[in-house]
Amino acid sequence: MSIFSTDKALFEPFELGDLKLNSRIVMAPMTRSRAINNVPNDLMAEYYTQRSSAGLIISEGTSPSVNGIGYPRIPGAYTPEQIEGWKTITNKIHSNGGKFFLQLMHCGRICAAENVPEGGEVIAPSAVHADGLMFTDEKGEVPHVTPRAMTLADIKSAQQEYADSAQHLVERAGVDGIELHSANGYLLDQFLNPKSNLRTDEYGGDFKNRARFVIETAKKVAHVIGENKVGIRISPYGAMNDVAHDYDDIVELYSYLAQELRKIGILYIHIVDHTGSMGAPDFKTDIKQTIKLNFGGPIITGGDVNSKEDAEQILKDGYDLVYIGRPFISNPDLVEKLKDGDDLRDPNPELFYSAEKEGYTDY
Ligand SMILES: Cc1cc2nc3c(=O)[nH]c(=O)nc-3n(C[C@H](O)[C@H](O)[C@H](O)COP(=O)(O)O)c2cc1C
Repeated sequence: MSIFSTDKALFEPFELGDLKLNSRIVMAPMTRSRAINNVPNDLMAEYYTQRSSAGLIISEGTSPSVNGIGYPRIPGAYTPEQIEGWKTITNKIHSNGGKFFLQLMHCGRICAAENVPEGGEVIAPSAVHADGLMFTDEKGEVPHVTPRAMTLADIKSAQQEYADSAQHLVERAGVDGIELHSANGYLLDQFLNPKSNLRTDEYGGDFKNRARFVIETAKKVAHVIGENKVGIRISPYGAMNDVAHDYDDIVELYSYLAQELRKIGILYIHIVDHTGSMGAPDFKTDIKQTIKLNFGGPIITGGDVNSKEDAEQILKDGYDLVYIGRPFISNPDLVEKLKDGDDLRDPNPELFYSAEKEGYTDY
């Protein structure tokens, strides 16, 4: 066996830009709905600290704006109190030797009126209602709100919100970087996708126009925090949240997006792969390789990784870092367990989004 075997690589340090990760294992972003009043708290600090042996932790989706809070009890990063909460969490992860990127998730039209804090408004590229139900603490499951279509002024101010949030998180909370959530049918993905974006101006229509909002936002955020602190998550052929999972220009769209992100010089692209396990249809093309070739920089991917062998397969397929989601919920010491080949505990999905510590910090 070569000394450069992938077996070695998975648990060896990896340089992601200026960051030295202690392994290639990334804790995937996971909404856990413990942020009462949308403010990160000590319970969340305990949860993340318990998992800080991951090579890199990517936070749960966090809203850059009062308009972006679609779910109950998801955290924000747009008030001083929220930034303070993130600072405490980041410091604890860092003192345990971990690295931390915060995922900025503006939900756009994936939202129930009950979940929007005072002063917020549900906006999206077009006034297109999303099928499906949204959980609320007040009424249980309710339909999504039909959003108001964003004006050009809304577009500029939403982009500014991403940039401001990113700046405060890096400069004041000390996070290692920002991941833009442009996957799974949330605001950025709503611009990319032809089912949720029916605009006829320069932000809608052909693939270059549909990619404009995402590219401009990435540029703005890179401008304030540095391009080497910006990653992005995308989900080609994804089916979550009532987006079209396949359409004529999907390969052109993601090739173009990857090329433009390469020009900006962002740190990584994180490709969601929910085929097989999370109800997504199979990829119709080798889109992950297409994105990798057009981007040229580090790629994180994964999906249903439950063992060292599964993780190594992702590296053998030519990707750089492996994301793991659900196993991190029920195995805070996942990296050690994978290394030792120990059996993994299964998480309890009924407690994924509850408000308490059960099913959160007690595994
Ligand atoms: C409870 C839960 C919450 C999630 N929340 C997010 C999120 O906030 N942002 C995101 O990009 N993906 C989210 N995901 C998707 C995961 O990041 C990941 O892609 C998915 O769990 C598949 O990976 P796995 O098979 O390793 O679990 C979530 C998944 C779960 C199970």
